[in-house]
Amino acid sequence: VRSFSVAVIGATGAVGQEILRLLLVRRFPLKELRLFASAKSRGRRIRFGSEELPVREVSKQALEGVDFVLLSAGKERAKVYAPEAVREGAVVIDNSSAFRYEPEVPLIVPEVNLGDLDKHQGIVANPNCTTALLAVALWPLHKSARVRRLIVATYQAASGAGARGLEELHRQVGAYVRGLPPETQVFRHPIAFNVFSHDSPISSDGFNEEERKVALELRKIFHEPDLGVCATCVRVPVFRAHSEAVVVETERKLSVEEARRLLAQAPGVRLVDDPKTNTFPMPVHASGRLEVLVGRLREDPSHPSSLAFFLCGDQLLKGAAWNAVQILEHLAGILPQKS
Ligand SMILES: NC(=O)c1ccc[n+]([C@@H]2O[C@H](COP(=O)([O-])OP(=O)(O)OC[C@H]3O[C@@H](n4cnc5c(N)ncnc54)[C@H](OP(=O)(O)O)[C@@H]3O)[C@@H](O)[C@H]2O)c1
Repeated sequence: VRSFSVAVIGATGAVGQEILRLLLVRRFPLKELRLFASAKSRGRRIRFGSEELPVREVSKQALEGVDFVLLSAGKERAKVYAPEAVREGAVVIDNSSAFRYEPEVPLIVPEVNLGDLDKHQGIVANPNCTTALLAVALWPLHKSARVRRLIVATYQAASGAGARGLEELHRQVGAYVRGLPPETQVFRHPIAFNVFSHDSPISSDGFNEEERKVALELRKIFHEPDLGVCATCVRVPVFRAHSEAVVVETERKLSVEEARRLLAQAPGVRLVDDPKTNTFPMPVHASGRLEVLVGRLREDPSHPSSLAFFLCGDQLLKGAAWNAVQILEHLAGILPQKS
């Protein structure tokens, strides 16, 4: 079996840590694993199976001979490191938004548009977490009945803002219990026991950056430039796993039963839809899982061919690390095993 030299840039981060866990549990054939982070992490060592690997700073020399780079260190770093790694002969899978909208860069959700992977020129983009989860659930419905328009409201976990976002929620919950005021460092507003509009720049049309990403990325992944998307992205005090309330208008009317059947067979989806016991997707169940949980399927009474549903997915896994590792497995020619 061929083995590969892999670099993880951002190995100390929330996504990077999940990538390392997945490389291990998926038994990715590694010839060598190189870990990178910022200067702040110099000297740190990270356990990988039975080994303790050093964390290094990125340099041209340090990337020499690497086959694949899993880049998870933000947009500005990606713009610098990805071209460097490609020049060194590596294929880069980037988790940031730096290249997602470049026409020559494939934006991949393996359950949806794996065919686009062939056209890569060294860089493959991983979608935004909210988009990836939504794409997995939406695709089987789209394939069968063509989604024309969708309205989505999100409930996004604190860890969507990285390891520091997660720590901030922990810290603020602790402060609240001790009767202390919340200290805000990562989020502009208190995250503990609060709900606020996604804290990303708002453009002149009134949508924030996260909401624009959902629309742009879904259109690119689905090859549907005219897909109508209206998103409202909101941060909630959940540690891990994003939720999304979705209403889709389809060209052909889909009954709840048909949609349920399609979703039950769809790769990457787990149907959690039991009205009798009020059991539907929840972040506590989605956390740590590779699949997107989908449920609360019902016909939208306000429109003749519209369906409503709810989903939860681990945004650190399917929304980031797992999607990237799936792409890596495909690029490496390893058949994805059933998880
Ligand atoms: N969190 C999510 O749910 C999620 C989902 C989808 C996509 N993403 C994307 O994934 C990327 C990583 O997100 P995250 O949530 O893992 O963030 P994070 O927890 O803040 O981790 C950021 C990582 O980048 C490293 N880094 C910072 N500056 C660096 C530099 N100059 N050189 C090399 N490494 C550097 C950090 O190292 P130090 O520890 O040394 O600072 C850390 O390992 C981002 O592009 C984000 O937009 C995140």
